[in-house]
Amino acid sequence: MDRNLRAVVVQACHNSRTDSPGSTCYEYDSAGQVVVWHRESLVEYLKFILKDFTSHMQHDDQLPEPDTASAAHSRRVAAFIREHIAAGGGSISFAEFMQHALYAPKLGYYVAGTSKLGKSGDFVTAPEISSVFGRVIARQVAEVLSTIDGGVVFEYGAGSGRLAADMLGALNELGALPGRYDILEVSADLRERQERLLQGEHPELMRLVNWVDAPPENFSGVIIANEVLDAFPVERFRRAANGVQQLRVAELQGSFEIVAADAPGILRDAVMVIERDLGCALPAGYVSEVSLGLHDWVAGLGGALREGVAFLFDYGVSRREYYAADRDGGWLRCHFRHHAHNEALILPGIQDITAWVDFTAIADAAVSSGMEVAGFAPQAGFLMGGGLDAELQYLESLPAKDQLELSTQVKNLTLPGAMGENFKCMALRCGDAAVPSAFRLTDRTHTL
Ligand SMILES: C[S@@+](CC[C@H](N)C(=O)[O-])C[C@H]1O[C@@H](n2cnc3c(N)ncnc32)[C@H](O)[C@@H]1O
Repeated sequence: MDRNLRAVVVQACHNSRTDSPGSTCYEYDSAGQVVVWHRESLVEYLKFILKDFTSHMQHDDQLPEPDTASAAHSRRVAAFIREHIAAGGGSISFAEFMQHALYAPKLGYYVAGTSKLGKSGDFVTAPEISSVFGRVIARQVAEVLSTIDGGVVFEYGAGSGRLAADMLGALNELGALPGRYDILEVSADLRERQERLLQGEHPELMRLVNWVDAPPENFSGVIIANEVLDAFPVERFRRAANGVQQLRVAELQGSFEIVAADAPGILRDAVMVIERDLGCALPAGYVSEVSLGLHDWVAGLGGALREGVAFLFDYGVSRREYYAADRDGGWLRCHFRHHAHNEALILPGIQDITAWVDFTAIADAAVSSGMEVAGFAPQAGFLMGGGLDAELQYLESLPAKDQLELSTQVKNLTLPGAMGENFKCMALRCGDAAVPSAFRLTDRTHTL
């Protein structure tokens, strides 16, 4: 392939924030590296990328209208946020806006009973795409539990319960069930959904499953969080020539708008730490996000994890990429009825709002709280190193329709244009737990 063309595609893929279905212009070698580019699909892929960029600019025209009940719910959430804006003297921080939109009691996106995950909802996560995802993680969990003489699995934010069901099924088959499977879920309706799914699929394993209201303490085992950290409220900031501005949310002529104010000390300090790590100041006018809650959450894990591994899966990049010059504008990502866009201020309470994760921030917090980064890899590398081949050994014996379905699922989990590259797994380790073998093919810890 022409080197310049390849560079354009690589850069375009790097910049893309798409949730698109996989394309066929990549293949991996056994070390998880992209090596083959099919010339015939390249032009189609370039067209797709350009369409995706365009769609980000025109998304408002393309977003479906909410139904009457959802629109009414969103008006109630907006009224709640407006009260807080008034109480805050005319504006609130973006983090507070995100907190209310997602978690306001009885109203927020994750608290009120909307569908959220799956076909009838707004987005699809890796466990919803294929049970292969949970089955590969189960292999890693079994490995860790065997080196620490058993323990507990603790899952944060279990969504529909799909990952828990797949992992418990696979751990049962492997003869490696944990002593308990604890779930911390902030959403009451998701908790009910998880219970229904697990009761339906694994009634005999329900004795192991507990829903808990507090993070683990004095913990030995495995912690799992898939797409939980990207749901933490983030601050938005703008670098000004002589300081840092906090981007806040106000109401102007009936709609929510961003306004800028001098950043409070805690946000200013966080931006200074980022700039210190980057070795230079961000350019004037640069806009991005920072998750101020992430450090304490990871430090909490460090304080709790006596022995074991925490596997954190999320959309994310290293700090250097997160605050790269060409990412001026930040990493917000919203989902409404399977349309992805970055307008966080619309549809309050009925759309998901996420922000990609700065994995360097997680690694720093982990190390300073006594954990070790045991591996950091894109989802494709993690799955391929973690036993995907073993999970696919019966592929060819399946009926053709099932083969096609399974290979499509695997493509969606592993192709760079789908979830293979943008999603990462970071493993944090304490005590004598094994370094997970999933990182034997790809480990990008050195990039953090
Ligand atoms: C995007 S969904 C991912 C669900 C699931 N892990 C999956 O992969 O399908 C985010 C999940 O995190 C939960 N959540 C958000 N903030 C949380 C927190 N601070 N602690 C525990 N769960 C949280 C939500 O209720 C929801 O279940």
